[in-house]
Amino acid sequence: MRAPLTDPFGRDISYLRISVTDRCDFRCVYCMSEDMAFLPKRDLLTLEEIDRVASAFVSRGTRKLRITGGEPLVRRDIMNLFRSLSRHLASGALDELTVTTNGSQLARYAQELADCGVRRINVSMDTLDPEKFRRITRWGDLSKVLAGIEAARAAGLRVKINAVALKGVNEDEIEGLMQWAHGLGMDLTLIEVMPLGEIEPARLDQFLPLSMVRAKLMDRYTLDDDPYRTGGPARYVRVRETGGLVGFITPMTHNFCESCNRVRLTCTGTLYMCLGQEDAADLRAPIRASADDAPLYRAMEEAISRKPKGHDFVIDRRQPRAAVGRHMSVTGG
Ligand code: GTP
Ligand code: 5AD
Ligand code: SF4
Repeated sequence: MRAPLTDPFGRDISYLRISVTDRCDFRCVYCMSEDMAFLPKRDLLTLEEIDRVASAFVSRGTRKLRITGGEPLVRRDIMNLFRSLSRHLASGALDELTVTTNGSQLARYAQELADCGVRRINVSMDTLDPEKFRRITRWGDLSKVLAGIEAARAAGLRVKINAVALKGVNEDEIEGLMQWAHGLGMDLTLIEVMPLGEIEPARLDQFLPLSMVRAKLMDRYTLDDDPYRTGGPARYVRVRETGGLVGFITPMTHNFCESCNRVRLTCTGTLYMCLGQEDAADLRAPIRASADDAPLYRAMEEAISRKPKGHDFVIDRRQPRAAVGRHMSVTGG
């Protein structure tokens, strides 16, 4: 095994997030614009090329792979990638192969994911109200997602629900979401909305600091800080009354960049060193230029040596500005 990749701030890079497509069957308002133009298919890495890059990261110390999108499960033949990456679980080189999904295709794929060694998945779902769900996703069908979650549980996958906390949208529902998730033995992670892509004024008004959500939950529940960690940015509390975990992802109010361990590969082979910065490296050129991995390793090392210290997201109504121009669907969160 080669030496692990370490950035200039001494952070070991052990978590690779891979966006396998920028496409999605939903259009969540905080993630995409309604008339998104998608990348031409010819620009995409093939699944074999994604495997090659992911495997290079695994051989350089990556212990966790998360497949994201867009919606990863809408990419054709996506199970071939999971199947082939699962060899790194079998060899012990990888601790975790996982996915963040909107749940719409889970009824079809849950069992296959479990068969590929996936143990835990994150499903993005911001509301239990079908009408509100339709508004947030612009046309999504909540019942399909609920059926997907059921299929995942039946396949033995541990499911965590990701909800973006939105003022005036699902703010009044967070306790209900928690009760529902914990009642089914699922954890819930709440996320502060981040200003990516072109941001509409509504997004600024919808920003809800999670300290407020936490305070409101504490009126009715006892929250104990919990040491549970996944290698992701969430910090967890256990709710005494329900026994379940609530995670808080607070990029806007409590920066967690100091312990960042991750980079992001897009479906075109661009490596973003930070979700909230433009710095990027092209890994497609080195893999297409040579069957030998040496140029790829050099490009990876050069990229990590430029990893920024952190993001500088701000939500400022007077200066509505996205920190980075690309939409969340390009980097997959
Ligand atoms: P776990 O493995 O369960 O901890 O998942 P995760 O939180 O690493 O991944 P997930 O795909 O569920 O991401 C949840 C949210 O966290 C998304 O909105 C991501 O954009 C956000 N997130 C993950 N990593 C980072 C990061 O490095 N910086 C910022 N600002 N947000 C992040
Ligand atoms: N801010 C915060 N989270 C977002 N997500 C998508 N767009 C944003 C945003 N602008 C979340 C999704 C999903 C995860 C991958 O990222 O809801 O849970
Ligand atoms: Fe699709 Fe997820 Fe973006 Fe919603 S947040 S549009 S489900 S990729």
